Amino acid sequence: MNAVTGAFGYTGKYIARRLIAAGETVITLTGNPGRANEFGDAVKAFPFDFEHFEAMARSLSGVRVLYNTYWVRFDRGDATHHRAVENTIALIRAAQMAGVERIVHVSIANPTVRPDLPYFRGKAQLEDEIRRAKMSYAIVRPTVIFGEEDILINNIAFLLRRLPAFLIAGDGQYGIQPVYVEDMARIAVELGGRTDNVTLDAAGPETFRYEDLVRLIAKAVGSRALLMHGPPWMALLGARAMGLVLGDVMLTRDELDGLMANLLVSNEIPTGTTKLSDWIAANAATLGKRYAHEIGRHYRR
Ligand SMILES: NC(=O)c1ccc[n+]([C@@H]2O[C@H](COP(=O)([O-])OP(=O)(O)OC[C@H]3O[C@@H](n4cnc5c(N)ncnc54)[C@H](OP(=O)(O)O)[C@@H]3O)[C@@H](O)[C@H]2O)c1
Repeated sequence: MNAVTGAFGYTGKYIARRLIAAGETVITLTGNPGRANEFGDAVKAFPFDFEHFEAMARSLSGVRVLYNTYWVRFDRGDATHHRAVENTIALIRAAQMAGVERIVHVSIANPTVRPDLPYFRGKAQLEDEIRRAKMSYAIVRPTVIFGEEDILINNIAFLLRRLPAFLIAGDGQYGIQPVYVEDMARIAVELGGRTDNVTLDAAGPETFRYEDLVRLIAKAVGSRALLMHGPPWMALLGARAMGLVLGDVMLTRDELDGLMANLLVSNEIPTGTTKLSDWIAANAATLGKRYAHEIGRHYRR
């Protein structure tokens, strides 16, 4: 039996689909067990219960491989990166108590303990915890994940469709190497089938300079927006203003800093095969037509 945290969410859903298609049994731990989902009775849902890891251990009883996608994108209320680290440690403890043999843990490319990058720092801390745990492990490090439910690429397209101008932070020459969500799920499931301890990037076959990616998206969606360069603080201010209008957090400082520091590029041989340029071309008609709402996904249910 397998457990996928967040099987009704984004990446976790693709992992669960693959496991089920391969004839595997899947349960999920989720923040919202009652959420509408495509799996029906095929995926039994249990609530996260980070305060009581014994209860989570009971939920994980009989599980051989745990696929963990749980994380928070930004601090909001008590859902902070610090809390997400503590919660994940509780989950690891529960998995050990339940006798889970292997964990496939979703991290991020180039995790780093830099204090100014809490997202990347939390991921680095958790990688250490996973390596210390008494289970075999696979740590998967995606760059940026794209696909139907994607947030970043979709929302760049959303802005390019509607605004007269689009601000690129800095010189726009930093890199980004997105990975397709189906590739990400395939890599995770393949790693779940192994027994060795492994850490691997999940990155696509194309690396773009950020500005080139924005131009590619703009062309695909027929945007006439003027592309301008400005300092990072101005891009963050613009994103914050848009976030206020849309009731969301569009972009965080550490996401922008991580992007500009080339942390969303892998130094390994690409493990994803799907080209973002092909996917954008195939999805140009719908890309960015609707805003992808992070807060809507996790806080307004
Ligand atoms: N998306 C990307 O581009 C990207 C890039 C690099 C790394 N990653 C990593 O890939 C993993 C999966 O990302 P995803 O985008 O596919 O995530 P997701 O499906 O939106 O969420 C994954 C899990 O985290 C929980 N979660 C997310 N935000 C939360 C919040 N604010 N409060 C409480 N619970 C929250 C979800 O809860 P529910 O079960 O209630 O839905 C779900 O269980 C994460 O570890 C992320 O760090 C993603």
